[in-house]
Amino acid sequence: MRVLSGVQPSGRLHIGNYFGAIRQFVELQNDPSNECFYFIANLHAMTTVHDGKTLAENTRMLAVDFLALGLDPQRSVLYRQSDIPEVTELAWLLSTVTPMGLLQRCHSYKDKVAKGISPNHGLFAYPVLMAADILIVRADKVPVGKDQKQHLEVTRDVAAAFNNEYGEPVLKLPEEMILPEVAVVPGIDGRKMSKSYGNTLDIFAPEQELRKRVMAIVTDSTPVEEPKPTRGNTLYHLLKLFTPQQDWPEVRKWFTRGGTGYGKMKQHLLGLILDYFRQARQRREELMADLGYVERVLSEGKEKARAVVAEVMADCRRVCGLAG
Ligand code: ADP
Ligand code: TRP
Repeated sequence: MRVLSGVQPSGRLHIGNYFGAIRQFVELQNDPSNECFYFIANLHAMTTVHDGKTLAENTRMLAVDFLALGLDPQRSVLYRQSDIPEVTELAWLLSTVTPMGLLQRCHSYKDKVAKGISPNHGLFAYPVLMAADILIVRADKVPVGKDQKQHLEVTRDVAAAFNNEYGEPVLKLPEEMILPEVAVVPGIDGRKMSKSYGNTLDIFAPEQELRKRVMAIVTDSTPVEEPKPTRGNTLYHLLKLFTPQQDWPEVRKWFTRGGTGYGKMKQHLLGLILDYFRQARQRREELMADLGYVERVLSEGKEKARAVVAEVMADCRRVCGLAG
């Protein structure tokens, strides 16, 4: 099975990104029957980041974070989106068969505009570029968070339109892969954890900063001795995410029985988060001291990815009448 996914280098990675995406990337690469492609979506990030230095820095940092969190260049192809120029070429071919209405219906576009992001054409055409990322390697499965489901629907619609228009099934229709239990990780204010809400717990934040953020998780005013609500309780959800299964019945009692204050629960959560990512944080330090290695990984990824996309692109050019 061919697996593909991408992450935008638009800031630091947070726990939502990890559980919603990267943890699955690692699991998938560990199954030898999968062929995995993971990339840094720097062209997508350009819909919102217009500072070259920042984009380059964020791209490098994301490569470091990918490797620190367990993506293995021996088992996955890791690359920068912009190293594969065929992606933007395919995006154009696809855009000529993409109905405007399909893009106008996209929640993600409407949400971003509602948040005040300038509605440039790139932002509008974002799902077409994403379709190109996926279709250009003929991916079978695309592991993503729930918020990307509609983009996968658009990808299938666009692929079907292309195949139909040119009368040949050159593009493969992919499927999304969403982990339902942790599909949406809440942020410290209870809304979906997202960089754009400023409510994240960042995986590689310095310990002091992480402590402050955990202590800032919004809780209700239930007195210490009383049982605490579990539904819609951010702290409950985050504790559940990080508590080893065998310890969960005990931790759950803190809520159902009462007697444990939110302050103590937050301390405990901080310890769990630090333990969970201890090895990754250590590995990240090592990688930061060897950025040459990280660059080599990306350049090998580029060569491997280009070999695969060349074939698909040749088919697409041929059916469109671009092959001469
Ligand atoms: P952000 O919302 O912080 O900008 P991105 O849109 O860059 O995050 O998301 C990168 C990946 O992480 C996507 O696959 C997305 O679906 C997933 N993801 C982001 N936030 C969450 C969350 N709170 N819960 C689950 N998955 C998430
Ligand atoms: N749109 C995705 C996000 O915001 C990132 C992305 C770009 C992507 N291209 C992709 C994800 C292709 C999966 C497949 O997270």
